[in-house]
Amino acid sequence: MNDPSTFLHALGQALAVMGLYAEGHPSRERAVDAAFSGLDGLSESNGKPSFTFLDGEVVYGRDPLRDFKDWDWGNRLAGSGIQRIEVERRMSRDEFEGFLQELHARVNFTATATGENRQMRSLGIRFGSVGIQGMSLSAEAAPDAPPLETLGQSLGEEVETLRWMQGEVQSDRGIPLVEAEAIVRSLSVAMHADRHTVLPLLQLKEFDQYTTTHSLNVAVLSMALAESIKCRSSEVRAIGIAGLLHDIGKIRIPIDVLTKPGPLSSEERALVQRHPADGAQMIMQSNEDLDLAAVVAYEHHMMLDGCGYPVAHYRRPSTLASRLVHICDVFDALRTRRPYREAWESDRVFTYLIGRAGTDFDPVLVTPFVEMMRRTQLSVSAVPDPPAPDTSDPVSAPSQYSATGVSDVVERY
Ligand SMILES: [Fe+2]
Ligand SMILES: [Fe+2]
Repeated sequence: MNDPSTFLHALGQALAVMGLYAEGHPSRERAVDAAFSGLDGLSESNGKPSFTFLDGEVVYGRDPLRDFKDWDWGNRLAGSGIQRIEVERRMSRDEFEGFLQELHARVNFTATATGENRQMRSLGIRFGSVGIQGMSLSAEAAPDAPPLETLGQSLGEEVETLRWMQGEVQSDRGIPLVEAEAIVRSLSVAMHADRHTVLPLLQLKEFDQYTTTHSLNVAVLSMALAESIKCRSSEVRAIGIAGLLHDIGKIRIPIDVLTKPGPLSSEERALVQRHPADGAQMIMQSNEDLDLAAVVAYEHHMMLDGCGYPVAHYRRPSTLASRLVHICDVFDALRTRRPYREAWESDRVFTYLIGRAGTDFDPVLVTPFVEMMRRTQLSVSAVPDPPAPDTSDPVSAPSQYSATGVSDVVERY
């Protein structure tokens, strides 16, 4: 039996029965047996099955399970702080029953939202002792530590998926929307795995493809900023996808231009500056549901005062989502060490953003962004140095201009 639907039905049944019968009751034992058999079959065939419960959706690995939309037990698990279950190895029947008891206890704790229960909920998705590991902070992590150290195992998959997506787009097969949504969903789960919102940025710097990492970071930052200004969850997701795809047009830039270490000629610069329009066109041709992402791709190098590129025939303010992604985009670009400049400290980037609020950036968004980032205590100095740029990455854009001034520095994000 290796069908996720069968397992989930059995899991729901077991959790329900556990509330009715004590340990050892034949009905309870049968229900646990069925769920165990379901998960064991999945582990046997899948290796490391994982489930995500978020916003009324259930995702198995990367596949949304349409039949489980608004599944009651999925909502109850998510509401208990269990948004993700990852099974690392096959378990014994006893271990599985212990895991079920843990789940059952967590779900029932939601009845009373005390501080103590929230603490238990935050630990509740960490089931390492029975071979299931969630995405929350480890229990040993200090509360104020950069809350990012637990995400590396899972984000590797997101990086791989994004790189695969870039390959699909490069081969003119369009933008795989399901995968883009899955990445954004995973990032959202990672951000909310603990009782505090966390920004899974630091570990992403361990990967060696600049723009792949940059795109994921911009997606995370954009979703966090959208949440902080109280956007609806559907808007947050759409902005996350827009952040993820904002630089997709760079795949049309020839690799020798992208990897040129010195200043670009005017022709080369013109090629680089086509990436917003190219990206928007690719997105629109791929999927009509991605109109916001297309707009953001087009506008993400436009300044609030109408400068930047593409040059608009009529100066107009860009959309809110574009102004939001723009800030996150510049922040991530400046805090990243590149061959032509060191990473800027966070405070220096904040000063830059604040100083250009009203000309380059929307001041209504700069303030909540800086406040949000200061709350996270994100430290640029703690970011590991990225390796040398991978010139095989068609979307990586190492130095294209000598970085003698700020305007050059931010022209290439
Ligand atoms: Fe960018
Ligand atoms: Fe860009």
